[in-house]
Amino acid sequence: MNSDRLVVFDTTLRDGEQSPGASMTKDEKVRIAKQLERLRVDVIEAGFAAASPGDFEAVRAVAESVKDSTVCSLARATTNDIDAAGKAIAPAARKRIHTFIATSPIHMEKKLRMNPDQVVEAAIAAVRHALTFTPDVEFSAEDAVRSDIDFLVRVFGEVIKAGATTINVPDTVGYSVPGQWGDRMRQLIERTPGADKVVWSTHCHNDLGMAVANSLSAVLNGARQVECTINGLGERAGNASLEEIVMAVKTRRDVFACDSNIDTSQIVPSSRLVSQITGYPVQPNKAVVGANAFAHESGIHQDGVLKHRETYEIMRAEDVGWSANRIVLGKLSGRNAFRQRLEELGIAPSSEQALNEAFSRFKELADRKSEIFDEDLQAIVAGDAAVSSERYKLVSMSQSSEMGEKPVSRVVFSIAGEEVRVESEGNGPVDATVKAIEKEAKSGAELLLFSVNAITTGTESQGEVTMRLQKAGRVVNGVGADPDIVVASALAYLNALNRLSTAPKANPQQP
Ligand code: KIV
Ligand code: ZN
Repeated sequence: MNSDRLVVFDTTLRDGEQSPGASMTKDEKVRIAKQLERLRVDVIEAGFAAASPGDFEAVRAVAESVKDSTVCSLARATTNDIDAAGKAIAPAARKRIHTFIATSPIHMEKKLRMNPDQVVEAAIAAVRHALTFTPDVEFSAEDAVRSDIDFLVRVFGEVIKAGATTINVPDTVGYSVPGQWGDRMRQLIERTPGADKVVWSTHCHNDLGMAVANSLSAVLNGARQVECTINGLGERAGNASLEEIVMAVKTRRDVFACDSNIDTSQIVPSSRLVSQITGYPVQPNKAVVGANAFAHESGIHQDGVLKHRETYEIMRAEDVGWSANRIVLGKLSGRNAFRQRLEELGIAPSSEQALNEAFSRFKELADRKSEIFDEDLQAIVAGDAAVSSERYKLVSMSQSSEMGEKPVSRVVFSIAGEEVRVESEGNGPVDATVKAIEKEAKSGAELLLFSVNAITTGTESQGEVTMRLQKAGRVVNGVGADPDIVVASALAYLNALNRLSTAPKANPQQP
């Protein structure tokens, strides 16, 4: 089935969520899914329904909200997993079950403790059972990169016979190199019986920094589905990044001879939203979505671009959505304009009260910042969703800092509804604020990461702070945004404490 259409399968909500601390709530997943739909991805892998009741609910909520993209749930090759996946995706207009089993000797022997015949049998049974829920069934051979090619041909031939419609070949451990990965894809398509009846897919991890190159090599050799994530988010070094694959294929149509259905103007808004929700900042020099991706620093380059843009630019910034960073509302905008812009962004506050709270936060922000951008609205709503029912809430704060003196921070916050007042010195205002909060919160968590990014341009911009905390082996990311970066830091720290105070999610990759 080699067409010129490249199917984009986004797994930000499933494989992306396996990044340390990137665990998302149901509402956050729905917000990202709605943005992925606007981006026009073909398939949204919404989660792993059998992993926990929370994961099940999140997949179901995405299935209820998304209309245009296919909604998919991952499932191991077991009856229980497939039942959970089938039930979770039931409300979706278009639905897929993605079932997988490991095929490499090391995984079969050490993890599954199954012999190759048992694996083939389980794979066939899984595909047959998945077909009772939907005709759209994807099968993956986990750790295909270290699997014997003859065995892969056998397994894939059998699952195609059983009715699988997409065959996914994962480089689970990010071990391959582009020439080898493309060659593997070509051989599998040439040798597997029934190969022409299915879509061949590639799923690459980035441990050696080659996930995108490997995916593109597979496309050159016949793959017509790529599995990827926004910003390359994902387990360990991440997955192949959606924006890089899509723009490579679009910019080098002469090489790839296929194209995706992606609305590329939604790439930057998608990147921003995922970064804001997961607390994973985008590195400035990241291709396509990094802040410097279209910035020309050297005089020679600037001169060239001013004279003729194509001298140094192979893509247009506005084509990937950089122009989306425009003023949308100001301090005179009313509640209706605010509500309408949220609707256009696909954000539906959960109640009238939630809308009112978000609106008053918007008014507060508009008093301090003359131009309000879409990114600011996203941050306001992310902040409001975060504070609604949480244990730790910021009430007010102030700091004094003077050159040569130790800064002092005073923070009023509530713990389960009870207000506490704390004060501390620190090395800097952020350090003093965190120390003050810890005096009462007493989490004892270790701070793994503190990062500050400007949400939009200019010194008026809101600062977005990520605080990554670790406690008892669990890692969470807290995010906060405010024009005052010390307030943003306090919000991020409290957000991380809130995440630590909720029950940990099951790791879906654990059998
Ligand atoms: O990396 C991997 O092998 C996976 C599979 C479940 C497709 O994520
Ligand atoms: Zn993966």
